[in-house]
Formats: sequence, structure tokens, C-alpha cells
Amino acid sequence: MSTDLDISSVALRRAMVAGIKDAGYPLSRDVEQALLAVERHAFVPGASLAEAYAAAIVVTKRGPGGEVLSCLSAPSIVALQLQQLDVRPGHRVLEIGAGTGYNAALLGHLVGPGGHVTTIDVDADIVDDARRRLAAAEVGNVEVVLGDGALGYPDGVQFDRIVATVGAWDIPQSWLSQLAPGGRLVVPLRIRGSITRSIAFERGEDSGWRSADHQLCGFVPLRDGAADDPRRTISLTADETVTLQLHQEHTVDPARLAEIFDQPRTAAWTGVTFGPMASVEWLYLWLSCTETSGLCRLATDAAAVESGVIAPMFNWGAMAVAADDALAYLTWRAAEGARDRRELAEVGIIGHGPGASMLVDRIAERISLWDRHFRHRAVTIEIPDDGAGFSEPARGRFFLDRPLNSVAVRWMEA
Ligand SMILES: C[S@@+](CC[C@H](N)C(=O)[O-])C[C@H]1O[C@@H](n2cnc3c(N)ncnc32)[C@H](O)[C@@H]1O
Repeated sequence: MSTDLDISSVALRRAMVAGIKDAGYPLSRDVEQALLAVERHAFVPGASLAEAYAAAIVVTKRGPGGEVLSCLSAPSIVALQLQQLDVRPGHRVLEIGAGTGYNAALLGHLVGPGGHVTTIDVDADIVDDARRRLAAAEVGNVEVVLGDGALGYPDGVQFDRIVATVGAWDIPQSWLSQLAPGGRLVVPLRIRGSITRSIAFERGEDSGWRSADHQLCGFVPLRDGAADDPRRTISLTADETVTLQLHQEHTVDPARLAEIFDQPRTAAWTGVTFGPMASVEWLYLWLSCTETSGLCRLATDAAAVESGVIAPMFNWGAMAVAADDALAYLTWRAAEGARDRRELAEVGIIGHGPGASMLVDRIAERISLWDRHFRHRAVTIEIPDDGAGFSEPARGRFFLDRPLNSVAVRWMEA
């Protein structure tokens, strides 16, 4: 007998799927059916039905400083990774980051009774909860393992698909070596600063790994293992209304940025415009590669914007470049001739600090170069077998040196 809860959760799942598609994430028939079949709310019992099916993450565990340690990813990001993974019935799949167990249940649905899913998490309480919820949902083909996902699942099994649902700055060798021939790895790779792209890698025809697809996303980072990617958030104002996310590659002294907004503002306008449907993600990728410290997430609240301290691109804040002697962030205004910003927006950069004017001019030049030569080119991301390479910015080629597996980002010839 169906209960009211069953009926309303079915409707919520339908609405969730419609929302994913409306947001521009196409779904295959199999992925859509899995999203409709698996009860997302059953994996987050602490959340209301509305929270469980909202277009947002559900936080399930925080650290001592309030940082998110585990969460259920937003439906669109779950869907995006499932699309990228291209799971088939009968596949053996390894997931890094079991979290709530929801994605593992979706994978279990996609591989079917002839397939198998192994999912790993680093915290015993998370593993216990995921096991319990998968058992309650009667998912029989998923095994939850406690361990460091950076080591993969070293029991000699080869997987058809490996997916990390946790952010990585480097790609552990185990993820490549534990894939069967023809296998696919999906990993949210932090390019630089706060810019992460979920990349579907496949083995190239001759050598190395090459992206079949890559899309902007955000994930909590790997921790407590062999490929951790620690990050910290610093406050840029005394009332903590403006914060900046810094990552392991950043050597900038937070004390030098603490009073940065008290220093005069310098702005540069680029003439580079974005229409209503155009995404800034490709500009982000370009600046992540051309700026050696990448783009960091500068978050703010409405009060700081209203008081005029900051004029960021979005309500939540903007992407920023943090240097030793300056901070610069992206902004925009209505382009010449446009009624307002929504019709056509011109990108600008606002900087503060002694080195601000040089910094904003440099970023403006790079944005303009991207607009003239690279904006309409496809980008591939590769893991070269020999781990060697060098950057040629003028040709749109960048080599990101990493301890485990270096990565090359290439804007393809037009
Ligand atoms: C975004 S959540 C995963 C969401 C999950 N797939 C779901 O469906 O709910 C990321 C997870 O990665 C886990 N994690 C972090 N570092 C890890 C590591 N070294 N090995 C395995 N899991 C890790 C976190 O504990 C967290 O549960």
C-alpha cells in the first residue's frame, strides 16, 4: 500500500529530475530512471523531504571549525558525474567518497544485479551510516569499505569505472592502475585555486589519459589519507563578512590581506562581454591556468555589498586573485548600449593593495587575450604518461606540475 510519503517523494523526484534538465544537464534514459527510482531522502534521514530534494547539497558532517567534511552532493552534480561515468549493466564500479550511500545506490541501480559497486569512505561513522541506509533500501550489490580512497581498493580487482565524489588536487596512481582496459575515471580535479572540474578520463589511443568531458563543479576535498588537499578560509574584514578560500599552493600571508579593503580601489574594464546564457566557466579555467596562484573563492554577504565595500560579480561573491601585495576580483557592469547587466555584461576587475594596479592590468590583458584567441576553442585535459611537459600560454597550453600525476590543459586549435 502506498503512503502519502511515497506519493509525495515520487513527485519530488520527478520535480528534481525536471530541475536537473532545466538547469542544462542532459540525462540519459538509464540515469534518469535511476534518479527516479532511488529514494534520495532515505539517505539523509536528518533532512526534511524538501531539503532532500532541493537543488542543493545536504550537509551531513562538519569539522570542529564548521567546515563541511561530508555531504550529499546537489542533484545536478550527482547527475553530471553519472552521465560522465557512462555506467553499463554488469560493470564493476569503484566510488571514492561513500558519504550517505546515495550515489552508490544509484550506481548499484545502473550496474544491475550482474554488476557490483565498491564504495570507500575515510570515517567509520560515515561508513556505518552508509551501510545501514543501503541495507534499509535493500541495495544488495554495493559494498561499503572503510579506508583511504586515495589508495583505491587494492585487492587486485580491476574496475570498469572509477568515480571520485570527493575533490582531488592530484590523481593517485591507484585510480589509473586499478582501471580495466577501456575503463573510465571521473574525478573532480582542482585545477588551481578554487576552480575544480569534474573530468572523465579515458586512455588515449597512443599514450596517456585524455578528457572525454569536463565540467565545472565543487566538492569537499580528500582528507586524512595519501593525497589530501587541505584548504582554509581567511577573513578579509574585521566583521568577517568577506572571506577568501586558500589552498595548499598558496603562500600568501593572510595578515597582509586582513585590511585590504581599507586600501584604495583600482578598477580595469576589459570590453569583454557576456550575454545572458553565456557561462563564465571557460574564462575561469583560462585564468586558473594563466594566473599561477589561480582563482580563489571570495565570499561575501549582502551587507558588505550594500555598504559598498565590495562589488562582486555574483550575490555570493566572486572569483579573486590573491597576490602578496594585492587582491583583485572579478566584477561586471552593463555593457555599453545595454539596458542592464542581464542583457549584456562587461567584465571588469577590481583590486586593492599596493600592487593592485599592476595586477588588475595584467588580469585584464589575459581576459582580453582569451576573448580574442581562445574563447571559442574546445579544451582538453590530459595526463601524459611520462609526466613531462611545459607551458606555452600564447598557444593555450599549460602544464600543471603535480607530485603524483601532472596534468596538461590544452586549448585546441580552432
Ligand atoms: C561529497 S561527499 C560524497 C557524497 C556521496 N557520494 C553520497 O552519495 O552521499 C565526499 C565524501 O568523501 C569522503 N572522503 C574524504 N576524504 C576521503 C578519503 N581520503 N578517502 C575516502 N573518502 C574520503 C568524505 O568523508 C565524504 O563523505
